[in-house]
Amino acid sequence: MIAISVKNLKKRFGKIEALKGIDFEVSEGEIFGLIGPNGAGKSTCLRIISTILSKDDGRVKIFDYDISQKMEIKKIISYLPEDAGAYKNLKGIDFLKFFAQFYKEQRDFNEMVEDGIEISLLKERLNDKIETYSKGMVRRLLVARSLMVKPKLAILDEPTSGLDVTNATQIRNLIKKKAREGTTFIVSSHNMLEVDYLCDRINLINDGLFVEGGKVKDLKEKYKVSNIEEIFIQVVG
Ligand SMILES: Nc1ncnc2c1ncn2[C@@H]1O[C@H](COP(=O)(O)OP(=O)(O)OP(=O)(O)O)[C@@H](O)[C@H]1O
Ligand SMILES: [Mg+2]
Repeated sequence: MIAISVKNLKKRFGKIEALKGIDFEVSEGEIFGLIGPNGAGKSTCLRIISTILSKDDGRVKIFDYDISQKMEIKKIISYLPEDAGAYKNLKGIDFLKFFAQFYKEQRDFNEMVEDGIEISLLKERLNDKIETYSKGMVRRLLVARSLMVKPKLAILDEPTSGLDVTNATQIRNLIKKKAREGTTFIVSSHNMLEVDYLCDRINLINDGLFVEGGKVKDLKEKYKVSNIEEIFIQVVG
């Protein structure tokens, strides 16, 4: 089953052509990495897949749905934006409950919240307001919100940005575990070690265009290198 199909995707912001015709497919159960330098178009692409942003041209399908079927798609995906903040006046626990409400038809509310509590690892700090959290604590809460709903597709824009090594590792392992349980992931990241550890396949984009992609192992063989960072520098640098 194809989880994401993107064909000739284009998006423009005024004079800036953020996406100039991007194509890729992600299979169900895969962890797919979208990588590229700052401004490449990763977040724009993820926002379109999340139905938050409209496309200008091209075709996007999420499982059996055309991207225009927003209501249907929203029930099966969850999206972690790169700059999600807000809701600072809520307690962490109330934030989880607030979002769990929207998915009550899909999963038992209490189970969802229990999962969220466990994934967040914030323990008693969940009773404090979000405005008192560190950057990494907010990120963990947001990851918990994204994964507690057991989405068919999780769209994570730089999930571990700002997290320390221990926290980032826990999140990566959690993503792997959820993928084994059947969730499909599309993840953007600037951490090539993370991409190497997590992703089955990657797509490298630059300036709104595809530049390289495939299985991580195949790419390393093609470029005769031992890590993705070297491929990135050869292709983009
Ligand atoms: N709302 C917007 N208005 C105007 N330009 C935008 C908007 N969103 C994105 N852009 C532009 O589109 C291009 C792609 O941005 P995007 O955020 O998708 O890049 P990115 O690959 O996610 O970069 P980063 O690694 O820095 O997060 C950039 O040139 C950016 O300035
Ligand atoms: Mg981005």
